[in-house]
Amino acid sequence: MSLKFDFSGRVALVTGSSSGIGAATAVLFAKSGAKVVVTGRNGDKVAEVAKQCADVSPTGVSAVLQVLADVTSEQDLQRLVTETVNTFGRLDVLVNNAGGYVMSAVYDDKFMDAFKSVLNTNLNSMVYLTHICVKHLEKTKGNIVNVSSIAAKLTVLNGSPYCMSKAAIDMFGKCIAVELGPKGIRVNTVNPGVIRTNVLEAQGLPKEVATQVYDMFGGKYPVGRAGEGLDIARNILYLASDESSFITGTSLVSDGGHVAANVSMNADD
Ligand code: NAI
Repeated sequence: MSLKFDFSGRVALVTGSSSGIGAATAVLFAKSGAKVVVTGRNGDKVAEVAKQCADVSPTGVSAVLQVLADVTSEQDLQRLVTETVNTFGRLDVLVNNAGGYVMSAVYDDKFMDAFKSVLNTNLNSMVYLTHICVKHLEKTKGNIVNVSSIAAKLTVLNGSPYCMSKAAIDMFGKCIAVELGPKGIRVNTVNPGVIRTNVLEAQGLPKEVATQVYDMFGGKYPVGRAGEGLDIARNILYLASDESSFITGTSLVSDGGHVAANVSMNADD
């Protein structure tokens, strides 16, 4: 039996909800009665996920707002929040999920470009969006869930920008949980293991190669499979729900046993 959450009357903004974990999260929020903001850079993908949300929402299309935004643009993020509050009148849940990676070793010529790009997308955007959402979340005694990774805890060969961005996200969540507790806002982090999404294909890997990578990791996991977006969506809704009202400043590792089994992400191992 899976937990059922009731987010009726609440508004959830999920970044990177045009794909993967974010899309599964937006759809589950909609199914659970929330009004949802679906946002990403690709209009067709945003529209497709928005339709899925409307199809499962008890209140249909009126519960879904689509906003095209690049999280690396502060202007776009300002517009995202303004449109959310203008449309729905409030913000209850912020899920900072958008992210990606560029692999680069520290000795590569283009390492600094990779570092800046990954930190901008994964970390700086989340910090800025959180900063401008606090005043709205304070009014609703709201909630923040940040999507990190087990790469915050384990090394990934040629992945130091990604690992650093995710380690910083874990610490950001802990620090601001302390600052925002007195405002009635809880903050938590989810650290997924390998999840079947679009993340590898977004970096140019052919679908069949991406499938092999997911299968390879899944075969090493104690649970015997790689994760699905819905696995993480359920964790996010739990942390955002009143079922976890005593939990703040924590990291929930959801990895099929990846860390426990010492599965390496260093390709030469
Ligand atoms: P995905 O590629 O399917 O989705 C990523 C989402 O972020 C997309 O909607 C994409 O449009 C959005 N995004 C990326 N850069 C953006 C930008 N500049 N502006 C606006 N949106 C942007 O990948 P997935 O796996 O669903 O990734 C979601 C989060 O989960 C990321 O933070 C990722 O680091 C994290 N994660 C994923 C794991 C996996 O194995 N798939 C494992 C651990 C963490």
